[in-house]
Amino acid sequence: MSSERTPLISTVRVAESRPRYPHAVLRRFCTVALASVLIWFFVAVAVSMTLFPDGHHRHGPDDRWAWPGCGRRKVTHDQLQRILLDTPTSKHAEEWSRYYTAGPHLAGKNYSQALWTKTKWEEFGIKADIVSYDVYINYPVDHRLALLEEKKHDDGTSAWKVSYEASLTEDIIEEDSTSGLPDRIPTFHGYSASGNVTGPVVYVNYGTYQDFEDLVKANVTLKDKVAIARYGGIFRGLKVKRAQELGMLGVILYSDPGDDGDNTEEKGEKPYPDGPARQPSSVQRGSTQFLSFAPGDPTTPGYPSKPGAPRQPVHTAIPSIPSIPISYKDALPILKALNGHGPKADDFNKYWTRNTGLEYKGVHYNIGPTPDHVVVNLYNEQEYITTPLWNVIGVINGTIADEVVVVGNHRDAWVAGGAGDPNSGSAVMNEAIRSFGEAIRQGWKPLRTIVFGSWDGEEYGLVGSTEWVEEYLPWLSDANVAYINTDVSVRGTYLKAAAAPLLDNIIHAATAAVPSPNQTVPGQTVHDVWDKQIKTMGSGSDFTAFQDFAGIPSLDIGFDSGPGEPVYHYHSNYDSFYWMEKFGDPGFVYHRTMAQVLGLITAQLADLPVISFRAADYAHALDRYVKKVEDKLDEALSLSSEITTASLLDDDVYFELRGSTRNFNSNPNSTLTPSSVSSSSSAESFRTSLKRLHKALEKLTARAARLDKRADALREKLARHIPWWRWPAKLRLGFELRKVNTRYKYMERSFLFEQGLDGRPWFKHVVFAPGLWTGYAGAVFPGLVESIDEGDWVNAERWVDIIESRMRNAARRL
Ligand SMILES: *[C@@H]1O[C@H](CO)[C@@H](O)[C@H](O)[C@H]1NC(C)=O
Ligand SMILES: *[C@@H]1O[C@H](CO)[C@@H](O)[C@H](O)[C@H]1NC(C)=O
Ligand SMILES: *[C@@H]1O[C@H](CO)[C@@H](O)[C@H](O)[C@H]1NC(C)=O
Ligand SMILES: *[C@@H]1O[C@H](CO)[C@@H](O)[C@H](O)[C@H]1NC(C)=O
Ligand SMILES: *[C@@H]1O[C@H](CO)[C@@H](O)[C@H](O)[C@H]1NC(C)=O
Ligand SMILES: *[C@@H]1O[C@H](CO)[C@@H](O)[C@H](O)[C@H]1NC(C)=O
Ligand SMILES: [Zn+2]
Repeated sequence: MSSERTPLISTVRVAESRPRYPHAVLRRFCTVALASVLIWFFVAVAVSMTLFPDGHHRHGPDDRWAWPGCGRRKVTHDQLQRILLDTPTSKHAEEWSRYYTAGPHLAGKNYSQALWTKTKWEEFGIKADIVSYDVYINYPVDHRLALLEEKKHDDGTSAWKVSYEASLTEDIIEEDSTSGLPDRIPTFHGYSASGNVTGPVVYVNYGTYQDFEDLVKANVTLKDKVAIARYGGIFRGLKVKRAQELGMLGVILYSDPGDDGDNTEEKGEKPYPDGPARQPSSVQRGSTQFLSFAPGDPTTPGYPSKPGAPRQPVHTAIPSIPSIPISYKDALPILKALNGHGPKADDFNKYWTRNTGLEYKGVHYNIGPTPDHVVVNLYNEQEYITTPLWNVIGVINGTIADEVVVVGNHRDAWVAGGAGDPNSGSAVMNEAIRSFGEAIRQGWKPLRTIVFGSWDGEEYGLVGSTEWVEEYLPWLSDANVAYINTDVSVRGTYLKAAAAPLLDNIIHAATAAVPSPNQTVPGQTVHDVWDKQIKTMGSGSDFTAFQDFAGIPSLDIGFDSGPGEPVYHYHSNYDSFYWMEKFGDPGFVYHRTMAQVLGLITAQLADLPVISFRAADYAHALDRYVKKVEDKLDEALSLSSEITTASLLDDDVYFELRGSTRNFNSNPNSTLTPSSVSSSSSAESFRTSLKRLHKALEKLTARAARLDKRADALREKLARHIPWWRWPAKLRLGFELRKVNTRYKYMERSFLFEQGLDGRPWFKHVVFAPGLWTGYAGAVFPGLVESIDEGDWVNAERWVDIIESRMRNAARRL
C-alpha cells in the first residue's frame, strides 16, 4: 500500500499548499496537469491495446479481452465466476471460524491473529501487510453494580444494606468451551467513563431521544438519578449521551427478552444451550462512543492516529458518565425495586409497552424514580491508554492502476468467540480470498486492483478502518471505485443488505448467480429467497468512513437472523463457535454461500471492463429521498400531537420513527410549535424550495440515464470482434471506456460537502449519514431532516442550496 500512497499524497499536498510563490505554483500545476493527462492517455492506450481478437473460441462477451504479453485472457470472467463458486467450502469456513473463535481478540490485544491472517492470505497467494495505528482506547479494570436499601432501626439510627449484588458475569456453559476460558473478557462498555455513582433509579425505556422527552414532559426527575435502559432501537452510546445531557449520574443497559420475538422462555422455549431462547445471563458488551458524531479514534478526528500525531480532547466524542451492560437476570431485582414507584410504562404511549418481556417475572415496568432509600451503586473503572491496533491489508494488483475495489471486515471482537460478529465475516472473507488465490494460480489477473482489509478496533468505534481511510484518503478519493463490507456475514438465514444505490444492481446480479442452501424449491438462488430490500447506508460498521467521509459507494451484506430463528447473543460470550455450530449455521453452509456471494460481487466490480454501476438508480433513489423529506415535512406541519402521530401510522413505522427522530418542537426557538404550524410561512417557503431539488434531479436523471446507455452500448461494442488492423477503432473504444468508468467512479464523490454536517463536520456526505440520534440506522439528507426536527427553516433553506449545488455538480460531471 505504501508504495501506491506516497506519490499520490504528495500530489495532493501540492494542490493544497498556499500560493506563496506564484511561479512555483504555476509550474507545479502544469506538471501535475501534464502528468494527469499523460497517465490518462497511457491507461487509455493500454486498455485499448488489450483488445485482441479471439475468434477461435466460443466464450462470453468478456472473453475477447486479452492482455499484452498474454495474447488472450487466461481466465475469462465466466471461468473466474466458476472458480469463485466452486472453491469455497463449508469445511474451510468452519476451520477459519474455529481458529478465530478460539481465544480473546479484543481490539489491540491479539497481534498473533493479525499475523495468522496475513500468513494465511499469503498462503492463498495474496500479498499482505500489517498496518498499525496508535489509538486511544480503554480496557476494563473493575466494576460493581449493587442495589442498596437504607434500613431504619428502632433506635432512630439507620444503615445501608446491600439487597442485591449484580454478578456482572455470564454463566459458564460446559459444552460451550469459550464461555469458560480463564482469560475471557469481562462485561464492559468501550469508551465508557470511569466513575463511582450512587443514586435512585429511573427506567427510561430504550433511552431514545423521544423516550427522554416523554419523561421530561411527565415531570419525572432525571437529574442525579441512575438510568436503567433496555438495549435496542438506537446505538447504545447515544442513550448514554442523552442521559448525560439531562444530568443523570450513570446508565445501566440490559437486554430485555421482550425484544426476542417468539423465541422466549415466557413463550415456552428453552434458553441457550438447551434451546433457541436467550440465555438469561447473557450480556451485550459494546461501545458507548457518540458514533453519529464521529467514529474512529476520538483523539484524532479526520486524520490518522500515527505515532506522534497531535491529539484532541475527547469530551465531545465519548461519555463522561459511567455506564455498564448487564443481563436481564441481573436487571430483574433492579426493575422490581421500581415496582410501585412513579408512573408506569403503560401510562405513556404504546412505544413504552410494545416489547415489555418481564411481567411474568414480576416486573411492573414502573418508571420510578425509586425512593431515596432505595439506590444503586454503579462503579466502573476503565484503563485508558494509547496502544497499537493492527489492520491486515492484502492486495491483488490489477491492470488499471487507478481503479481499486476494497473488500473488508473487522477482526476484533468483544469476546473470545464472536463466531457471528465478526468471525463469520472473517471466515467468509478468507474463503473468498482463497478463491481469488486459486484464480490467480490459474493465471487470472484482475482488471482493477483489489484490496482486502481485516480491520482491528471496529467494535470501539470503527477505529481501524476509519484511521486507514483517513491515512489513505487522497489515494482512495482518486482510485477507490467501491467498498464491500461483510461484518456479521452469518447469524441466521435471512439475507440482509445495505448499499449505496449505485451498487444495488450488483447485489441483485451476484445473489441471483448463487444457489441458496434452502432448496425447498429445487434450484432456487439466494436472490429467489431474499426479500429484496436494500437499506440505505447508516453506520455501525466499517463502511462508514468509506461512504460518509470519503464518498465511496459502499455496501454491507450478510445473512441475518429472522423471525423464528434462534436468538443471536450479540456481543456476548454465547456468540461462540458452539452456538454457531449448533444453532446459527449448522454445517457452515451459509458461510460457504456468503463466500460465493462476496466473491461474485467483488469480481463483478473488479473484473468487468465497464464498471457495473447504474447511475440512473442513484438519481431515482435521490428522488425518492426528496419525497421522504417532503413527507416528513407534511407530518411535522399537519400533526401537532403525539397522539395523532401514533394513531395515523402503522405500528412498525411509528416504532421506527420514535427511535429515529427528535421532537420537532424540542428547540425552544422553533417556529414550528403546535400553535404556529399552520401559520408558519417559512416552512411553506421551504416546501417550495424542495421543488428545486426535484428540478435539479430531472437533469441529473437525464444525464445518468445517458451515461448508463453509453455504458450499455460500450459493453456491446466490447463484446464484438474487432480485427487487429482496425486499431484506431480499438483506441477509440479504449478512450470511451476510460471516460465512462471515470464518470462512474467519481459520481458518489459529488455528494460530499467539505464543511460536513451541522455539528458533526467529520460526516461529509449530504445524502447519507447515520441518524443523529439513532447511530445505526441511515438518515437520508441529514441536513434537511435535522433542520425539520429543529424547526429551523433558515438552516433548512441553506441545506437545500447545498444539496442542489451537489446535484447540479453531479449532473455536470456525468
Ligand atoms: C489470540 O487468538 C488466538 C486464536 O483465536 C488464540 O488462540 C489466542 O489465545 C489469542 N491470544 C491472546 C493473547 O489472547
Ligand atoms: C502492486 O503494484 C505496486 C506498484 O504499483 C507495487 O509496489 C506492489 O509491490 C505491487 N504489489 C503486488 C502484490 O504485486
Ligand atoms: C464508591 O463510593 C462509595 C461511596 O459513595 C464508597 O463507599 C465505595 O467504597 C466506592 N467504591 C469504590 C470501589 O471505590
Ligand atoms: C409538570 O409540572 C408542570 C409545572 O410544575 C405542570 O404545569 C405540569 O402539569 C406537570 N405535568 C405533568 C404531566 O404532571
Ligand atoms: C425456503 O424457501 C421456501 C420457498 O422459497 C420459502 O417459502 C421458505 O420461507 C424458505 N425458508 C427459509 C428458512 O428461508
Ligand atoms: C435560541 O435563541 C437564543 C437567542 O437567539 C439563543 O441564544 C439560543 O442559543 C437559542 N437556543 C437554541 C436551542 O437554539
Ligand atoms: Zn461487527
